[in-house]
Amino acid sequence: MTIVLNTIGLEAASEQIRTLIKDQEAEIIDTSEMKIAHCMGCNQCWLKTPGICAIKDDYENILKKLVKADNLWLVSDTHFGFLDYKGKRVMDRIMPLLNMYIGFRDGWMRHELRYHPLNIGLLYKGEASQEMMEDWCKRTAANIAGHSLGAIALDGTQGSACAYKEALPVMSGPIEHLVIINGSPRTAKFSNTDKIIHSFAKGLEEVGATWELHNISSRTEWDAAREAFLTHPRTLIALPLYVECVPGLLLEFIETLPKERQTPGELSFLLHGGMDEGNEFRLGEHFLQGLPAQLGCSYGGTMVRGGSFRIRTVEGEERAKMVTPFLKMGRVYAQKGTFNTPEAKRFTGPEQYPWLLRKMVSLLFMKKVNKSFEDFAQSWGCARPLDDKPY
Ligand SMILES: Cc1cc2nc3c(=O)[nH]c(=O)nc-3n(C[C@H](O)[C@H](O)[C@H](O)COP(=O)(O)O)c2cc1C
Repeated sequence: MTIVLNTIGLEAASEQIRTLIKDQEAEIIDTSEMKIAHCMGCNQCWLKTPGICAIKDDYENILKKLVKADNLWLVSDTHFGFLDYKGKRVMDRIMPLLNMYIGFRDGWMRHELRYHPLNIGLLYKGEASQEMMEDWCKRTAANIAGHSLGAIALDGTQGSACAYKEALPVMSGPIEHLVIINGSPRTAKFSNTDKIIHSFAKGLEEVGATWELHNISSRTEWDAAREAFLTHPRTLIALPLYVECVPGLLLEFIETLPKERQTPGELSFLLHGGMDEGNEFRLGEHFLQGLPAQLGCSYGGTMVRGGSFRIRTVEGEERAKMVTPFLKMGRVYAQKGTFNTPEAKRFTGPEQYPWLLRKMVSLLFMKKVNKSFEDFAQSWGCARPLDDKPY
C-alpha cells in the first residue's frame, strides 16, 4: 500500500503522483486543509501511551494508515532550499512508527521499528537543493528501515540550483552580547536544549559576555525573539535534530524572519540530538550552513553534539555530567566568536562508532539505557509495553 501525503494540495501534484504510482494500490491524502499541529516533542508516544500520539488532530487517521503502508510519498513545497514547515510538520509526526528502544541497525544507532519498514519518496516544488532532498529521503527512510523512493522536483525544476546566496563575510572577535534562541518545540521546562543552553551560557558569563534567551516553543515569545535577532549582531540558535533536520516549528519561525536586515548580523547554531554519532547531524548542518545568507547574515558555524536524549530524564550529578562539557564550549565560543574552531570540531566526537565499540555499546550500554527508558516510562504511569502496537 502506498500513501501520498500532499501538503500543497495542487491538482497538478496529484497528476504527477498518479503517473508515478501507476497501478499500485495507493491513497492520496490532501493534508493542505487539515488540522495538523507540529510535534511538540512530548514523548508520550514512546513513554506514556506507546504508539499513540498525544495530539488529537487530523494526523491520527493518517498514522493509522501509515502503520499499514509500505511506501510513503511526501508532496511538499520548499523554503531556504529544504522542505517548508508544512511538509516537515507531517514528517515530524511519524515518531509513533518507531519505539523508544535504541539499538544498531545496518551499523548505525537507530530506534527500533514499532511496525514494519516504510520506504520514503519526495515530490517537491520550488528551488530546493536536489542533493539535500535526496539525502533527506535516504536518511529518513533508513530510520524506518526502508529505502528511498527518490526525490523528484515538480514542474521540471529538478536540478535547479538551490536558492543559496553567497556567504557574507564573518564577524570576528569576542562576543559581547549573545541572543540565544531555543529552537526546540518542547516547552523550556522539559527541553534538553534549555539545559544545554544554561550550561553553555555559564561559559559565556565566565568571560564577561551577556546573553538573553527566547524560546520558540511559546509563540508569544516570537515577536521578542525576532526583535532581538534584528537588533543585536550575534545570534545563536540552539536546536534539537528532528527527523534528520530542523524541527518543523523552527522552520515556521524562521519563515517569519525578514530576508534582509538594516544592521550586520551573524547566526551560529548549536545542533544536538538523541543519537551519538556525528554523521547523524550532517544533513542538518548542511541546511544550517546555507541559512544565514538567506536571512542577510554571516555564518558563525555550527557546533554539533549527539547523545542529548536523556538529559531531562536525569538530575543532579548525572545531568551535570551531560551538560557541563557545554560550559567550556560557551567559554571558547565567547572568546573566539565562532564555532569554526578545532575545539568545536572535536566536541562532536566520532562520525561513527567503530565496529568493536558498537558491539560493546550494544551489549552493555544499550541494555542499561533501554532499561532506564522502561523505568522512566513507569514513572510516567505508562501501562503498556514500550514496543506495543496499538493499531
Ligand atoms: C519528532 C522528533 C524527531 C527526532 N529526530 C531525531 C533525529 O532524527 N536524530 C536524532 O539524533 N534525534 C532525534 N530526536 C531526538 C531529539 O533531537 C533529542 O531528544 C533532543 O535532546 C531533544 O531536545 P529538546 O528536549 O530540547 O527538544 C527527535 C526527537 C523528536 C521529538
